[in-house]
Amino acid sequence: MQITKAVIPAAGLGTRLRPVTDVLPKELLPVVTKPSLYLVLEEALKSGLKEIILVVSPAKKSFFEHLKEVFPKLAFQFVIQKEPKGLGHAVLMADQAVGPNPFMILLPDIIIDHPKPVCLQLIKVFQKINRSVNATERVPRDQVSLYGVYEMASREGRLHKAKRVVEKPPPEKALSDFVVTGRYLFTPDIFEVLKKTPPGRNGEIQLADAMNTLAGRGELYAYEFEGLHMDIGNPVGLIRANIYFGKKEYGKSIYQGLV
Ligand code: G1P
Repeated sequence: MQITKAVIPAAGLGTRLRPVTDVLPKELLPVVTKPSLYLVLEEALKSGLKEIILVVSPAKKSFFEHLKEVFPKLAFQFVIQKEPKGLGHAVLMADQAVGPNPFMILLPDIIIDHPKPVCLQLIKVFQKINRSVNATERVPRDQVSLYGVYEMASREGRLHKAKRVVEKPPPEKALSDFVVTGRYLFTPDIFEVLKKTPPGRNGEIQLADAMNTLAGRGELYAYEFEGLHMDIGNPVGLIRANIYFGKKEYGKSIYQGLV
């Protein structure tokens, strides 16, 4: 089956990047000369995705209208999330727009660079196993509390079967150092699960809690992707992304006089 639709939740307030995010959505902050969201959309395009469902707040919608012209090969649909009630809630807003087929979720503050786009890596796995499969990687123990964290049941090479998922546990309670990394491929039953998922951490509907339900049923897989991940949702990650892509484009001369 071909995967053509992707949900991009972009209604967040970008509080960690204030004050710039008071005037510009974080998805449009530059990585060298490109709004960071363009890098995510390029990944979607290279992975064969065709329809993008952007979940936006009423205040941010107008900032994204120009995408239709910049990416004419992608069809855009906007879904309004009036209140930020969590990632799971944002995804649930896209239920009707997604419809009955498997789809992807791309978190726009996660940029992953690799010649074979991570979305495509997940699609290839899905075509073999026909089950929900999300990107994972190992991170240092002291960083696990920034992420959804897996407990794995079994593995075969890079592909793991998940047993449990917990959203942002304290390091001492983390079940492993395998984390949820911002690219997800779900079968549409995730919507039924999300509808029954009560508010969790921070009183928000957490996608990780719905993933935990799927994992408990033995229906969730995680794939150790190839690529370097940068989180532009915080100041250091945004700077790292600019250094990484700046060096790629202009070479080491960007360091002159700095280090
Ligand atoms: C979200 C998810 C979390 C995931 C992370 C990185 O958290 O809730 O499970 O590990 O993205 O992909 P956020 O960073 O938006 O707080």
